[in-house]
Amino acid sequence: MTNALFSPVTASFITALANDVGAENVSTAPAERRLHARDMSAHQEYLAEVVVWPHTAEQVAAVLRLANEAGVPVTAWGVGSSLEGNPVPVHGGVVLSLARMNGITAVHADDFQVTVQPGLPYKDLNRQLAPLGLFFAPDPGANATIGGMLANNAAGIRTVKYGASKDNVLRLQVALADGRLIQVGSRSVKQASGYDLLHLFVGSEGTLGVITEATLKLWPIPELMSAVVASFETVAAAVETVVLVRGSGLEPAALEFIDATHARLLSQAEGVDLGDQPALFMEFHAAHQATLQMGLDTVQEICRSMGAVRFRATTDPTERRRLWHARHAAYEIALRAHPQQKFMILDVAVPISAFPAMVAHIEATLDAHALTGYMVGHAGDGNLHVLLPFGDEASYRVATAVNEAVVLQAIELGGTATGEHGVGFGKARFMTREHGPALDVMRVIKQTLDPNGILNPGKIFSL
Ligand code: MLT
Ligand code: ZN
Repeated sequence: MTNALFSPVTASFITALANDVGAENVSTAPAERRLHARDMSAHQEYLAEVVVWPHTAEQVAAVLRLANEAGVPVTAWGVGSSLEGNPVPVHGGVVLSLARMNGITAVHADDFQVTVQPGLPYKDLNRQLAPLGLFFAPDPGANATIGGMLANNAAGIRTVKYGASKDNVLRLQVALADGRLIQVGSRSVKQASGYDLLHLFVGSEGTLGVITEATLKLWPIPELMSAVVASFETVAAAVETVVLVRGSGLEPAALEFIDATHARLLSQAEGVDLGDQPALFMEFHAAHQATLQMGLDTVQEICRSMGAVRFRATTDPTERRRLWHARHAAYEIALRAHPQQKFMILDVAVPISAFPAMVAHIEATLDAHALTGYMVGHAGDGNLHVLLPFGDEASYRVATAVNEAVVLQAIELGGTATGEHGVGFGKARFMTREHGPALDVMRVIKQTLDPNGILNPGKIFSL
């Protein structure tokens, strides 16, 4: 990609950056630039010209002010665990790493809230909160930072009960392109005060501002948790069961679907017994044993009525952790099973009633292309991934065609091009189709908040 739109990083720009954040927090070393050139996906890498590590919100604001005046692009970076190229500096310029802003600013235990800096990884946050009996619920798997999770509205396995990142944030401090620092939202759970700017920044992928502090909602760690694995003879029976479980009034804390090939692979690699048929993974949380047991009885009845061939429920914490560990390792395990190949990771979401139709469409599309793909999804909220291996140019083209067909079908079914991985540059080409004239409104908002277009250019909108 050319840089005709932007100014190059000059020696005097680097000196000014060093004045703002300290020379030890600025690097043009090729190794650092390479470490910040790609995310966890197979998307193309791009090198920034300089990496900076501010320590305070004021320093973030100063970097943005400087870059805005100089016309240099700035791309915020958490840990690079995204999957659509979201923090990849496609136009070069500055990578602004939040890694050194990784502290807890305040715990408001009586309000079930915590205020954190954006570079704090969520698993580290939860380790620190555990002694208080509290946790931050969104659980995308990879140890993403809070800032990255909010910027991309990350979700994961717990969304079906606790919501996505957007549902678990109350207030943000944001640095704008011109260097202003603003607060949006409040620590009140109920908020009805003016435009909802809080949720404008959530999911904006660093294109409207950089999150410098976040106040999050917390939940009490449940007294009792169970894990359930149910296997079915057909994919159709498994995914229809999802709709029934959701309709039963039970509140699963996780409700995941995994196809037969993937179940077999995870069982072999992780030493857990998921069988070799399409399976549902579920988790239930409760405060009392009797409530938990009643829920498990109901879910067993539903699964049996749908012809489940295996049903295993456990409250043993070690077994439960092993199961979820296997589920979270699904991508790495698939990568290891195809050492010579890369993966395209599909991510679509549809209304829950359309989930069986979405899965059937994917099966038919894979069959039509004679492709192996691993299906795994947060079925309880209609979100599905397909992991598609590819090796050469020809198989990349086929995977791209499958991705396109799946996204268009999801939109057709009333869903969305991305349930949780965001747009980055991987999904930008679908935005007009999904949003129509609403995309023009997004462009106007972008133009208002970032008139020089310096914030994470090349994302969300196709340039
Ligand atoms: C997941 O659900 O595991 C992630 O969103 C995607 C992945 O790593 O496959
Ligand atoms: Zn996922």
